[in-house]
Amino acid sequence: MKTIVITGTRKGIGQALAQHYLNKGWNVAGCSRGDASIQHEHYTHFSLDVSDEEAVVAMARTLKKQFGQVDALLNNAGIASMNHALLTPASTVNRILQTNVVGTFLFCREMAKLMRSTKAGRIINFTTVAHPLNLEGEAIYAASKAAVESLTRILARELAELQITVNAIGPTPIETDLIRGVPADKMEALLQRQAIRRMGEVKDVINAVDFFIRPESDFITGQVIYLGGVN
Ligand SMILES: NC(=O)c1ccc[n+]([C@@H]2O[C@H](COP(=O)([O-])OP(=O)(O)OC[C@H]3O[C@@H](n4cnc5c(N)ncnc54)[C@H](OP(=O)(O)O)[C@@H]3O)[C@@H](O)[C@H]2O)c1
Repeated sequence: MKTIVITGTRKGIGQALAQHYLNKGWNVAGCSRGDASIQHEHYTHFSLDVSDEEAVVAMARTLKKQFGQVDALLNNAGIASMNHALLTPASTVNRILQTNVVGTFLFCREMAKLMRSTKAGRIINFTTVAHPLNLEGEAIYAASKAAVESLTRILARELAELQITVNAIGPTPIETDLIRGVPADKMEALLQRQAIRRMGEVKDVINAVDFFIRPESDFITGQVIYLGGVN
């Protein structure tokens, strides 16, 4: 039985991804700051903050004991704050960078160690179209995801010798709590900049993640796929 680690599984895209891999018969190890929202015999939840180094190392130790190895990692946990740069306090900047950049890095580092023995590890990081579209009001969020993309490209090189691929997916807006605060006119303007002008759906993310994970994708690494025809 294969094991996938998914961060941010309490709600939103991460919860749907966890359900998808449970339905496919995988062991799923999820995490979030809150308690588990999924009850399943093959689901294990870790209540932690992804930027807490000690907690992430402890989770990796438990996974090693429980499953021996990890086959795939989805670095889905992420936060956003939409605000003009002049109105953005340093506390918000730090919170976003800690979660999106430090959290992603720590999980890549610790889970890569547990993927070595599989000789077919898969890491998928989460970015956003806010970066290539240079969306106003999202300076810090977009910058944090630009860092995630850079991590993806460099770790793809560093982890290639361990037969681990590292790729990223950049969704367009999808109805979750993350984008609830975005005004309707801004959302419409954003959709108009996509080649395919519709909201994204969780199934669009699942499709790209499945593609990166399949065994035949072992020659694909360091890539970023944006949805909706954004480039
Ligand atoms: N929805 C969109 O339109 C969209 C578009 C582009 C990219 N994305 C990316 O897709 C990913 C998922 O977004 P979403 O829309 O599903 O967001 P969401 O509905 O707000 O869910 C975020 C998840 O991450 C967890 N989380 C947040 N901070 C955490 C932390 N510090 N430590 C551990 N877990 C944490 C949350 O659980 P707790 O609150 O319990 O911690 C929750 O389960 C993010 O990386 C986001 O940037 C989303």
